[in-house]
Amino acid sequence: MDKFIIRGGKRLSGRVKISGAKNATLALMPAALLAGGTYRLKDTPVLRDVATMSALLRTMGVKVEAHDGVLTLETSGVHRFEAPYEHVKKMRASVYVLGPLLARYGRAKVSLPGGCAWGPRPVNLHIEGLRKLGATIELDKGYIIAHADRLQGARIHFDVSSVGATGNIMMAAVLARGSTVIQNAAIEPEITALAQFLVAMGAKIQGVGTNRLEIEGVDVLHAADADTIPDRIEAGTFLVAAAITRGEVTLERINPEHLTAVITRLEDAGCAVVTTPTSLTIKAPEELRGVDVTAAIYPGFPTDMQAQWTALMAVAKGTSVVTDSIYLDRFKHVPELIRLGAEIELKENAAIVRGSSRLTGAKVMSTDLRASASLILAGLVAEGMTEVLRVYHIDRGYEAIEQKLRAIGADIERVSGEEF
Ligand code: UD1
Repeated sequence: MDKFIIRGGKRLSGRVKISGAKNATLALMPAALLAGGTYRLKDTPVLRDVATMSALLRTMGVKVEAHDGVLTLETSGVHRFEAPYEHVKKMRASVYVLGPLLARYGRAKVSLPGGCAWGPRPVNLHIEGLRKLGATIELDKGYIIAHADRLQGARIHFDVSSVGATGNIMMAAVLARGSTVIQNAAIEPEITALAQFLVAMGAKIQGVGTNRLEIEGVDVLHAADADTIPDRIEAGTFLVAAAITRGEVTLERINPEHLTAVITRLEDAGCAVVTTPTSLTIKAPEELRGVDVTAAIYPGFPTDMQAQWTALMAVAKGTSVVTDSIYLDRFKHVPELIRLGAEIELKENAAIVRGSSRLTGAKVMSTDLRASASLILAGLVAEGMTEVLRVYHIDRGYEAIEQKLRAIGADIERVSGEEF
């Protein structure tokens, strides 16, 4: 297990190229199960989660190769329709294979994901939606066992807007007989990217990018290529890295539109932000102001940026309240930030952060992907040396984060070893 050693206090400055979006890639890859053929996904990031999805698809008979940022999937030989617990427990997005397998092959056996480090993460909406489309679904020994002769279009209304359920139902409905309407669909950019990919494969989807999707099922789809959208959470994390170190950084290959909620809060905190259609430059002030945020569904402030924002608020002036309305228990980073000297109190689903604290280096433990990111950010500004243990979490979702941070002036190194 690797760890990071960070010596804080360096102001970051320079340019960073943002990688393709993890959460878009994890939706596009299983979509390739919907039609046999060769798919090329450009700008695919090199991440552990992408490796996990590749391994899962390989067990089903998909040929997967990565070369120079292009992931090639050959899906003509799919012969197994199962996502075993060993894969799903590593990465919940494995559940994305359920809709495509069911739609194309009429059956799927997918392990129930269970909870995760920050609490329960149900898949009831995925199951209810597929049942609406005519699937027979049983839960047996921890597995979702689904069958359908041919799925039938239906009207689906999600009580909660869910990224995963929208993706899964959309992938099932594109091959169903007749039309499906999904109301209160997720409008996260990664779902829009998935819808556009499905359209490129021959799907008929109206309302792409809105919360009402109308899908007219077709009999067959065909393989297609995609350019992966930039990772808005990686970008947001680097913006906070610039802000927390009072730096000046330009991000390249991004879509600032996807980051509006984060950019406006950074401006409220005193940062100057200049955008072009594909880049963004942030200049941080000497003293940041505390700004409350509430993580909510897109286009709200992303829950995947909540931990990083909490770290930033620990060194801003005044008290700020960071609330998560999506995952009420997603605060595993807080006790670790407190070990670095942050003053944070948890009240239900909110962190009350008394800012301007001087952070000091210590050993801290990663618990999940975004919590790890928040600890690295805190380490960048903490006095002395911070050791972030169990960084395998960070490798799930950030491509070469220490190299990218080093290139803009951070003092961070990865140390490999067993005992961490
Ligand atoms: C996706 C992202 C994750 C992000 C999250 C919210 C991927 C691979 N992961 O996760 O990084 O944090 O969106 O932006 O894209 N819910 C139910 N029943 C369900 C499904 C969800 O009640 O069947 C609830 C969840 O508990 C949560 C809310 O819906 O409160 C949103 O979750 P959802 O959008 O489904 O998250 P994921 O797709 O798992």
